[in-house]
Parts: sequence; structure tokens; C-alpha cells
Amino acid sequence: MATTPEIDPEAPGFSVMDFASSPHAAYQALRDRCPVLRSQGGLGGVTISRYEDVLWALRHPEYFSSESTVAIGQQRPLIPLMVDPPAHVKYRKLLDPVFSRKRMLALEPEVRRLAGDLADRFKGGDGCDFHAEFAEPLPSTVFLRLLGLPLERLPEFVEIKDGIIRPSADDMAGAQAIREASGRRIYALFEEALDARVADPQQDLLSWMLDEEVEGERLTREQILDICYLLLIAGLDTVTASLDTFAAYLAQHPDRRRMAVERPEIIDGVIEELLRTETPVMMVPRVVKQTVEIGGVTLEPGESVVLLLAAADTDERAFPDAGVVDFERRPNRHVAFGGGPHRCLGSHLARMELRAALDEFHRRVPVYSLPQGTELSYSAGIRQVEPLPLLFREPGA
Ligand code: HEM
Repeated sequence: MATTPEIDPEAPGFSVMDFASSPHAAYQALRDRCPVLRSQGGLGGVTISRYEDVLWALRHPEYFSSESTVAIGQQRPLIPLMVDPPAHVKYRKLLDPVFSRKRMLALEPEVRRLAGDLADRFKGGDGCDFHAEFAEPLPSTVFLRLLGLPLERLPEFVEIKDGIIRPSADDMAGAQAIREASGRRIYALFEEALDARVADPQQDLLSWMLDEEVEGERLTREQILDICYLLLIAGLDTVTASLDTFAAYLAQHPDRRRMAVERPEIIDGVIEELLRTETPVMMVPRVVKQTVEIGGVTLEPGESVVLLLAAADTDERAFPDAGVVDFERRPNRHVAFGGGPHRCLGSHLARMELRAALDEFHRRVPVYSLPQGTELSYSAGIRQVEPLPLLFREPGA
């Protein structure tokens, strides 16, 4: 990962978002030359890229607040993502047990069945669009099952979350209008689902939330909607992006692909290392709450900050041979799931889904590569690869 001289993070208009397809040189330029970058163009605000600084900021919400950070079509702060401690603590106390490792492991056989059914369709075939035919439908189906929502509405949910995360519009105003319209559809969809649960309670997450109490009080309808909205945004795209980036990497590195396929016992190491080197959620936003000095730079209240998780995860100061993909790396304290109080609620679900998906796919499709001349396009922010054409043969065969 040598620094590429032409990448100048201090140049006007520089944006790390422009490097989503091949970001490592830009991450290194940021870390080495301006680890706390205050810029006018690009993302604007302040970009923090070294591991030590990113981790410190994640762990200090009293300086780096998650309130009023981004407008993604929501009418109120999303719970718990946009709530700072101490209020944040009560929501995590409620939600953590529901997404615990033990509960998520119990779902693994069903997720394996779903992944196996999807991958069965590739048997005997020549290739597929991994994104459209596997990486997108799998987490969306798991999510609908978890919440107890009807599977036939899958395309609707996918369309709505895409409208929030990557609205197709020519300008910022157009994009925001699409986000707000998609946001209204999310509230309406969950309102409808909650009404159905009130009339006829089920054994699912929605019915559970209607019954549950936080500090002796039931969750209000608005609070439940604000949690569901976040789960939809946080749970679908991230696992899809992880599967996309992992498959794209393995398709282009046959030695690593063979290792992952032939040694299923190291699958957890494969997942952790690819989470580190691909870091599908590139960054998280914050707003400075009180004056703070970080990396030798003083930040003032109200400044917007981007914590570049992906740059932190490839920082040589924190990971020996950071540029080497080592499936047996230990320890591997990446921040792909964030850190501090807002660390990903769904990490156990995500890890289980990724393990089940990769395992079941590899059992049926042990050999795959990209068609010659393919140039992959990664979306910025959350790095989906769409389309992701795979051929079920060795490169060049
Ligand atoms: C590999 C897949 C995933 C990745 C890489 C990922 C990444 C992240 C990151 C980086 C954060 C921290 C946000 C911040 O600090 O501002 C986060 C938070 C969160 N994630 Fe995930 N996530 C994944 C899967 C999931 C899934 C499947 C769910 C569904 C339950 C989920 C639910 C959440 C929620 C609710 C939060 C907010 C936690 C809080 O604010 O306390 N995530 N995730």
C-alpha cells in the first residue's frame, strides 16, 4: 500500500468518496499527510483517519455526538443511532439481549437453509450476478423473517432502503426529496405492520417491541417506528455490501479463495480479515459537542466530523503488515462495526449471516472469478458492488 503521489487530500474538492472502488492509497495519503483534515470541498467538515484517533472519538460521545448528524428521510432521531448517552444506554439495554450472540446462533440453521436455497440455483450454471442473485436477497429475507414481515413484500423493502441510501437523482435537492418520500413509505409500512400486531400478536420482533418496557414504561409507537426505521437501514445494506466486497476480493485473488474454500474451519478469520481490509461501512458521522484537541488539531462545537473507519482499519500504526490480507491475523481489533457505545447492535447477526452465506455458497460454487476486463463499481459510503458478475471457473480459463 504505497502512497500514490497524485492523491492530494488537501487539494480543493478532494473526497474519499471518489475512491470507493480502490480506496487504500487514498486512506494512506490521509493518514500520513493530514490525519485530521479540515476541508471545504468533498465531504466538508473534518475527516479523521488514524486508528488511535478514530477509536478515541468513537469512545468519547461527550465530545463527538451522534445527534443531528445526517438527514436520511427520518422525521425524528433514529433510535439508538442518533441518541447520545445517557439516554442511549436504556435503548441498548433493551435491544442488546434480542440481538445477542446466543440468539443469533440459534437462527443459523434457518439462515443456512435460505443461503443454500439461493446458491442451489447456481449449480450446473456458468455464472451469476452475485449482488442481485445472492448478496441482496439473503439479508433482506433474513430481516423480513426476523421482524415477521411478509416475504412477498421483499422488492418493496429493497426499493425503499435503496431510496434512502443511494437515491438516484442528479442533485442534492432531488436526492433529499427521494429520501424523504422513501422515509414516509417506511413509516407507513411499519405503522401498518404494527396495527396488524396489535390486532393479532405474533411471536416476532414487532410484537415483542409492543410489549416491552424501558425503565418501567412501554415503548411508544414513535419509538418503535424509530427503531424499525434504523434496523431496516442498518441491517440490509451492510450485509449485502460485505458479501459483495468479500466475493469481489476472493474472485480476484484465487489463492485466497482456495484457502477460504478448502479450509472452512478458518471461515471466521476470513470474515474478520475481510471486514478489516474491505470495511464495507467506510465511515460514520459525528458532530463536535465541546472543544476538543485530537491529533494535534483543535475542533470547535458544531463542526461536522467523519470518522473514517476504513482508513483506521488499514493503519500500519495499529496493524502489523496492515496491507497484507491474513486470514489468521490475531489479534484483529478492527473497527468495521464501529466502537464505543454505538458499536453495531447487529454484529452477531451480521457475522452469523456472513458465515452461513459464504459457507453455503462455497459448498456449491468452489471456483469463481470475474469475467475478463470487468471493472467493478463500488458505491461510496456503504460499499456495494453492483453488478457483480461472477464466472464459475478459474481466472482466464
Ligand atoms: C457486516 C455488516 C454490518 C456492518 C459492517 C455494520 C456496521 C455498523 C457500524 C460501523 C455501526 C456504528 C455506527 C456509528 O457509530 O455511528 C453500526 C451500528 C449499528 N448497526 Fe450495524 N453493521 C452491520 C450489520 C448490522 C445488522 C445486520 C444490523 C441489524 C440488526 C445492524 C444494526 C445496527 C444498529 C441498530 C446500529 C446502531 C447502534 C447504536 O447506535 O447503538 N447492523 N453498524
